[in-house]
Amino acid sequence: MKPSRRMFLQGVTGLGALSVFAVHTPMVLAQTGENEEKDMAIPTPLPRIARFEKLAYGMFIHWGLYSQLGKGEWAQSAMQIPKAEYQKLKDTFTAKDFDGRAFARTARRAGMKYITLTTRHHEGFSLYDTQGLSDYDAPHSPAGRDLVRDFVEGCRAEGIVPFFYHTTLDWYQDSFNNDFGVYLQYLRDSVRLLCTNYGEIGGLWFDGNWSKPDADWQVDKLYGMIRQLQPEAMIIDNTGLGKRGEIGHPEIDSTTFEQGRPTPMDRRGMKKYIAAEMCQPSNTHWGYAQNDFCYASTRDLIENLCACRKVGANFILNVGPTATGKLPDYEKALFERVGDWVQMHAEPLYNGKPSSIKGPEEDFALETGDKIYLFIHNLSIRGDKNVTLQTGGAGPRTFDGVAKKIQSAKWMDNQEELKFQQDASGKLTVEATGFPYGTNTVVRVVEIA
Ligand code: GLC
Repeated sequence: MKPSRRMFLQGVTGLGALSVFAVHTPMVLAQTGENEEKDMAIPTPLPRIARFEKLAYGMFIHWGLYSQLGKGEWAQSAMQIPKAEYQKLKDTFTAKDFDGRAFARTARRAGMKYITLTTRHHEGFSLYDTQGLSDYDAPHSPAGRDLVRDFVEGCRAEGIVPFFYHTTLDWYQDSFNNDFGVYLQYLRDSVRLLCTNYGEIGGLWFDGNWSKPDADWQVDKLYGMIRQLQPEAMIIDNTGLGKRGEIGHPEIDSTTFEQGRPTPMDRRGMKKYIAAEMCQPSNTHWGYAQNDFCYASTRDLIENLCACRKVGANFILNVGPTATGKLPDYEKALFERVGDWVQMHAEPLYNGKPSSIKGPEEDFALETGDKIYLFIHNLSIRGDKNVTLQTGGAGPRTFDGVAKKIQSAKWMDNQEELKFQQDASGKLTVEATGFPYGTNTVVRVVEIA
């Protein structure tokens, strides 16, 4: 069905009377205009969305009172801890090891460009100063300080963009169940603090609307306020495990793929270009879980990062700091090790755009203005077969749809020149040599000029 002009305008703003939105939508209007023929065009991303896509890879931090239990961020609900008992965790929350700058430094070292911190999770405790909205916050605990401020300042010092996760589901506020209108006002007042007290932020990442799917969350009011106070901030709303990739309210700037590889998005005919982001825990819990040994490997993470960038999606990798706010050593090492791979391939990872060039199986291409990058999976190591398992393959890999005439092909990691053949139909076959003995970078990237 072709949308009418009226439907289109409603779709873009989704906010009826809120005129402030008109200010931020002219690009969308200008491109799509009233020209029905352009309906199938892919819209140009708004500047904040284009910037977000270039951030590419980030850190997610789940930290709160629950971290003291070491059983994940859902402990209160999963273990059915009575509220009065759970609340006591506030009295032992010292945050004595929390150093926002240390997280930002690790992120930078890991090749990450942004961090999304749980400023308040479902338990309802705020890491920021709620300035009297509630005394269930960090300044009222033994921590005695605004931890979000520490985080933001640490990020700025390291050139990392701070994003705020904020729950919408709340196990602490009685009004969440008893007087939803009052609760929503409290939620907006809380978010207003985050929008006004910490300078310019990368975005807000909401989570929890899935807990009351039929409720009126009055999101127009919430999003309208954010657009006024932080016009350049991304608005993201986690659709949860059940509805990955679902596009919601027109003000949402990115879809989410919680723990699932993103599928390509068909943006033709969309009113607004929407980004995509996948989030993943480093083990199988988001909040610190002492007895969770089920970690993702560097291999998994490299492959997942590649799978995200293949479709232009961002990837955020989670860490659950300890009770006192320390980044656990294992995760730190994991992040840094993946970072070694990221640093080797920074140009295509941050600046490469999804390409129509098709590779075999998992192989794919990204393109920057003047270069093509081929991501080659499942290679073997070149070595003595008595020493090295000869799994995977080396040899020719054929890509379809390479229109431009190729002059050279080389591995990014060691600059080795590769043989290739190109035919008139756009088939490019690269002789993908295996990993030299002594290396295995999981996914190897060919730079083509
Ligand atoms: C889910 C969980 C939550 C976690 C989030 C991260 O929505 O409820 O605990 O923060 O996923 O994506």
